Amino acid sequence: MKTYLVNEEGYYGEFGGAYVPEILYKCVEELKNNYLDILQSEDFKKEFNALLKDYVGRPSPLYLANRLSAKYGCKIYLKREDLNHTGAHKINNAIGQILLAKRLGKKRIIAETGAGQHGVATATVCALMNMECIVYMGKTDVERQQPNVQRMKMLGATVCPVTSGNMTLKDATNEAIRDWCCHPSDTYYVIGSTVGPHPYPDMVARLQSVISEEIKKQLLEQEGRDYPDYLIACVGGGSNAAGTIYHYVDDNRVKIVLAEAGGKGVDSGMSAATIQLGKMGIIHGAQTLVMQTEDGQIEEPYSISAGLDYPGIGPFHANLATENRATILAINDDEAVKAAFELTQIEGIIPALESAHALGALSKVKFKPEDVVVLTVSGRGDKDMDTYIGFLND
Ligand SMILES: Cc1ncc(COP(=O)(O)O)c(C=O)c1O
Repeated sequence: MKTYLVNEEGYYGEFGGAYVPEILYKCVEELKNNYLDILQSEDFKKEFNALLKDYVGRPSPLYLANRLSAKYGCKIYLKREDLNHTGAHKINNAIGQILLAKRLGKKRIIAETGAGQHGVATATVCALMNMECIVYMGKTDVERQQPNVQRMKMLGATVCPVTSGNMTLKDATNEAIRDWCCHPSDTYYVIGSTVGPHPYPDMVARLQSVISEEIKKQLLEQEGRDYPDYLIACVGGGSNAAGTIYHYVDDNRVKIVLAEAGGKGVDSGMSAATIQLGKMGIIHGAQTLVMQTEDGQIEEPYSISAGLDYPGIGPFHANLATENRATILAINDDEAVKAAFELTQIEGIIPALESAHALGALSKVKFKPEDVVVLTVSGRGDKDMDTYIGFLND
């Protein structure tokens, strides 16, 4: 049977692979040769699952949003990753990778972050496991996600503001890779999304796949069948979407809708809609769709949401889009903000700006009354209050 999951060479169709500088070749090979054995070992699974349960608070609820359902004329369940410890899905992956880093004997942890959620998750797990933590974050994001910067500092991490490029996620990732090149033997790079060289996209997808594992069980209990008609998630690099669809991707009964950041409009020159605007290229070690100029220079992306403001996309998702397995929608800043206020006012849930893009997709899909829809609320909106308050006063 055809699978959309990774093949043995680390590719999804023509996307993926590992294009790394020679100095990192050994680190990536070490990871590639060990990650499956470690992730599948009983000892890892026991420690990982115990932390997901008692530290993160999993399973996260699958909440039937009645008023939202009435508004869109179908049955909408929200997968509440916003209720996880630290406020987003990112903690699932951070715990998994840091447990793995320990088993590889690494002492120093580095990470990149956009919205700060992955940085906070990594700093949290490093505090828990007594490991050194350095987080690279674009200066623009440091300014727009202050609460998360303060949290990382309080957790004992060193936050390094990055001033190259437009000072967002791409630039933070460049800097983290530069650090890794300088410390290849003792450092583990915790990538926060399904991006980077193989095996990262597959490893992060597996660590986040607990989301769809739970959706299956919860739907069976609540609906009497273990699959929905639609799965909806936002995509920055793609990790919450990958976790949401992982156990359904080869099941054609389930339609997949991915929401990327349209910014001020796909054709406005201020967008981060990589799947629609990108062309084949290489970014941060993977062959994938990349926003680039005619001569192959990376184009600066723009989104109101720091976590979606990235000019690349996970190879898994690039392939799903190319193969028409997923419908890709670009949700603009104003549509996302409107959807965030709507959820807040009719369900009492303030979503992260990233998750608000998934919510913005609801008005663009024609649902039937009997459709069961699962939408992942990837994070909570506490970190975005300054942005939201700006709209409140408009
Ligand atoms: C709450 C939240 N949702 C979504 C994302 C986007 O990342 P991904 O596409 O890897 O889920 C981020 C990234 O920072 C985030 O903080």
